[in-house]
Amino acid sequence: MNPVTDDPSNDFFFEAYDRENIAYGMQPSPELAAYLKQTASAESSRSARPQAIDLGAGAGRDTLALAAAGYDVTSVDVSERGLDRIRERAERANLSDRVKTLVCDVRELSMDADCYSAVIATTVLDHIPGTDAPAVWKKMCAALTSQGMLYTQVHTTEDPGSDQSPGKESDQPVSETAGAVINYFRPNQLVGWACEADSRLRVLRYEERLEWDTTHGAPHQHGKAVLLAVRQDFHPDWFGQPAAFPRSETS
Ligand SMILES: C[S@@+](CC[C@H](N)C(=O)[O-])C[C@H]1O[C@@H](n2cnc3c(N)ncnc32)[C@H](O)[C@@H]1O
Repeated sequence: MNPVTDDPSNDFFFEAYDRENIAYGMQPSPELAAYLKQTASAESSRSARPQAIDLGAGAGRDTLALAAAGYDVTSVDVSERGLDRIRERAERANLSDRVKTLVCDVRELSMDADCYSAVIATTVLDHIPGTDAPAVWKKMCAALTSQGMLYTQVHTTEDPGSDQSPGKESDQPVSETAGAVINYFRPNQLVGWACEADSRLRVLRYEERLEWDTTHGAPHQHGKAVLLAVRQDFHPDWFGQPAAFPRSETS
């Protein structure tokens, strides 16, 4: 019995994931999708399936993209309803054998060092207190293999739901789920973590931006920081996003 999730009223995202039109839709995070597409042939040539972990996986839009790209994925979330929907979606896509779900708070999760080729955390480091986020970040970095990729998104103080400037002065509409975001990242904070020597990362892409979200509730704006990085000595085929001089589909 999990006291956090067995009572739907304790699951902040229950209603968002219970809907027929599931919150956040099925499109994976765009930078992650671009990375998976560009590195697909290298991943498929590995003898064993690469392992991925999706922290705060929600209803699984990134999990499903990773599984379709050939990863074995562990999807971690405190929302049992979100994980139900992931299993449903995986079944429908014939990817059940590649997806494992785990109800767990990311702060309690233990991950072995050097074990995941992909570590994903799409808007979860901002759902935990700022005092806890650095420890989760450290675990994420340690868990990455020497040929690993790390993808993270967080809400920033530009978000109209933020109680800090400049977001708090914004007159743009706020997300229906903004109440779950308790740790808005400051400008350059996430990339600062990625550039620390202990993180042992090489940044492929970092962006702070405003974006419109029409995937749930009324259309609203977000302030986001988006980071795509790899282990420091790893040099995959990454041509950017949008890809510079993309190869044709046939080459
Ligand atoms: C904004 S949603 C993002 C879902 C998914 N990553 C996506 O982008 O579609 C944030 C998710 O983080 C989960 N979450 C929040 N705090 C968490 C925690 N401490 N441990 C694990 N999951 C958590 C929520 O249940 C929710 O599913």
